Amino acid sequence: MKTQPSLDQLISIDGKRALITGAAAGIGKAMTARFAEAGAHLTLVDIDSETLAATARELTESGVAVTPHVVDVSDEDAVDRLWIELRENEPDILVNNVGIYPFKRFSEVDGAFYDHVMRTNLSSTVWMCRQMIDRRRDRGGIIINIGSTDGIRPAADELSHYSISKAGVIALTRSLAKAHARHGFRVNAIVPGAILPSGAKQVVQKMVDGGVGAVKIGAEYVRRTPLGRLGRSDEVARIALVLASELASYVNGAVIPVDGGFLAA
Ligand SMILES: NC(=O)c1ccc[n+]([C@@H]2O[C@H](COP(=O)([O-])OP(=O)(O)OC[C@H]3O[C@@H](n4cnc5c(N)ncnc54)[C@H](O)[C@@H]3O)[C@@H](O)[C@H]2O)c1
Repeated sequence: MKTQPSLDQLISIDGKRALITGAAAGIGKAMTARFAEAGAHLTLVDIDSETLAATARELTESGVAVTPHVVDVSDEDAVDRLWIELRENEPDILVNNVGIYPFKRFSEVDGAFYDHVMRTNLSSTVWMCRQMIDRRRDRGGIIINIGSTDGIRPAADELSHYSISKAGVIALTRSLAKAHARHGFRVNAIVPGAILPSGAKQVVQKMVDGGVGAVKIGAEYVRRTPLGRLGRSDEVARIALVLASELASYVNGAVIPVDGGFLAA
């Protein structure tokens, strides 16, 4: 009788190359820690050179193999240049985690603002997936896109642009999962609910960025969520690791909420 692999073997991504975008902070940073713990070599991509260097330093000091790249993933040419640099070292696992969520009333959303949000949240994911699929067509790979519950059930009135971009991430995920499983790809999305920023400094920054709206949304979210609290970045990172590993070998085209039950309530 064929013996089943052990749990340790299934969760391990030892020696795999994982590229995480938006890796310097928040959910992306939490993923770097879990992926490193599971044995991956990390390629970290972020636009913020200072925070990225600090995150890379922390990981290197704990003995993890890390290659940081400062890239604006909303810039198609910059993404193409990144993948030229990665040649021969393309990732086995790609996590498209970059996303911004600036609050703005729908009536005030102008073309430049809308384009910026769409390019950062959706086009960047398209450019990264296209490169991954083109360059690994003979080997396949794993793609994890980070959406949001807002792409399914909007939580805030001032985030219509964000909801549109995240609905696009879900549609992209499903369409690639269908078209490219035959080339050896598994493509899935995680849709986090409201996640607590990792440090006190970040909490203050998010409140400054989102203003009163962000605080109100947070309170409303907690009231509505069956688990009755905000999520933590690491709780998203754990599910990303499951999707990246052989534990999820038959999971493709899935959209997995990590939201304390928000979408069910
Ligand atoms: N935090 C939440 O409550 C929450 C909820 C649902 C979904 N999400 C999604 O999870 C993902 C991560 O969110 P977070 O709250 O951890 O974000 P964050 O703001 O804490 O970190 C995002 C990182 O992305 C980087 N970044 C931003 N624009 C970039 C660009 N153009 N190119 C490269 N790097 C760029 C930033 O420098 C930062 O390091 C996003 O896609 C977000 O939409 C977050």
